[in-house]
Amino acid sequence: MKVTIIGTGYVGLVSGTCLAEFGFQVTCVDKIAEKIDKLNNSIMPIFEPGLKDLVVKNVAQGRLYFTKNLAKAVGLSDIILIAVGTPTGYSTGSADLRYVFEAAQEIAPLLQGYTVIVTKSTVPVGTTRQVRDTIRVAAPKADFDVASNPEFLREGAAIADFMNPERVVIGVESDRAKERMHTLYSSLSQREIPLVFTNFETAELSKYASNTFLATKIEFINQIADLAEVCGADVQHIAHIMGLDARIGKAFLQPGPGFGGSCFPKDTRALAAFAHERHVSVPLIDAVDSSNEARKKAMAKKIIAACGGSVRGKKLAILGLTFKANTDDMRESASLIILPILKEAGAVLSAFDPEADITQNIEFAGVERVPDIVTACQGADAIVILTEWDIFKALPFEKLAEVVKERLLIDLRNLYELDNVTKAKFSYVSLGRPTVQPKY
Ligand code: UDX
Repeated sequence: MKVTIIGTGYVGLVSGTCLAEFGFQVTCVDKIAEKIDKLNNSIMPIFEPGLKDLVVKNVAQGRLYFTKNLAKAVGLSDIILIAVGTPTGYSTGSADLRYVFEAAQEIAPLLQGYTVIVTKSTVPVGTTRQVRDTIRVAAPKADFDVASNPEFLREGAAIADFMNPERVVIGVESDRAKERMHTLYSSLSQREIPLVFTNFETAELSKYASNTFLATKIEFINQIADLAEVCGADVQHIAHIMGLDARIGKAFLQPGPGFGGSCFPKDTRALAAFAHERHVSVPLIDAVDSSNEARKKAMAKKIIAACGGSVRGKKLAILGLTFKANTDDMRESASLIILPILKEAGAVLSAFDPEADITQNIEFAGVERVPDIVTACQGADAIVILTEWDIFKALPFEKLAEVVKERLLIDLRNLYELDNVTKAKFSYVSLGRPTVQPKY
């Protein structure tokens, strides 16, 4: 079976490469010539562990192909996945779908033979049906069906999430489409991974519901961390105790500086906007994004408080800029809110992150980007951990104690056990736990 993926961003490139790995003939199409040229030279447009090797292998074995030429790709396809960007486009928080409908319009006249067109990007409820109607109007004689197949990939774990999903959600309205989508995911269903077939709207809403629930869970434990701080409780122990209840589950109960990424903030806002457009009251969903954004600002204040109430003229070593570990993605990262506030408060900032691509981020003007941890910590009045990169989980405390001005570690990811950090002879401020003073 031949598959075309439109869009070689994070979702499209991972999906296309993994489908080639399943044995399909996959063509990835993108309008941005530079992206296609880079991919044809084995240069990845995104940082995703394991992706490059999988791309190189499938290109070498003739199953994966990159082109700017949509016409050539579509004519040969049995399935076309639309995996273009759906950014938050309007002040209401609604998703901007222009690229989705542009793709639908371009596909329509090129269709040859029965084809299933799939909305793979996260799209508001009703979009798949609109894509179907758009193609029907543009190509009345075309023999096609549409389907909704939202992805549940986490950046930094995307290949594993595609290859071993907990479920595949597929919205269809015909048996032909169901059969073809079943073939597409036969490698997974043969491993007893559930393929859940439903209607378009249910598939679309289930994606928003899943992401917004996970975002809600994170914001919940963040608020419990704030409560724990004022009553001497330990939020890590609370998360452990909660997670032992199978109804709650232990995942996504890790306090942090506020969730970021290209999905949780966007999807939470889009779901709230969808509800508002339909005059449905969703106060819980409304609160998730606003409280998360407020948290990022509150984290800057927490850092300032931990530094004695002022950072004016103080040097802060910032460890981690990306929205989470194992990605280069800066989208909606807490650092984009926190660092400008610290700069505004007079701090001098040195930042180290192993992968962050901050070339697009004006928020970091005036922030010194350094190549390693020790350089960042030279003369620092405080060290601040913002992202949970593995290399921050075993800091060379002996060495850092020699180079810092003050032995203060502010850890907004709770990377250290309180018992261990006392040996480091650093004052240790974290989330939802008592501050630890060194025992000299
Ligand atoms: C998320 C969903 O997990 C994925 O299923 C969906 O397809 C896309 O959106 P992603 O945005 O890549 O994936 O990252 P994720 O690992 O979910 O983390 C999102 C944010 O929440 C990050 O900023 C992360 O640091 C934060 N987070 C996550 C926490 O603060 N605590 C947690 O326990 C988990």
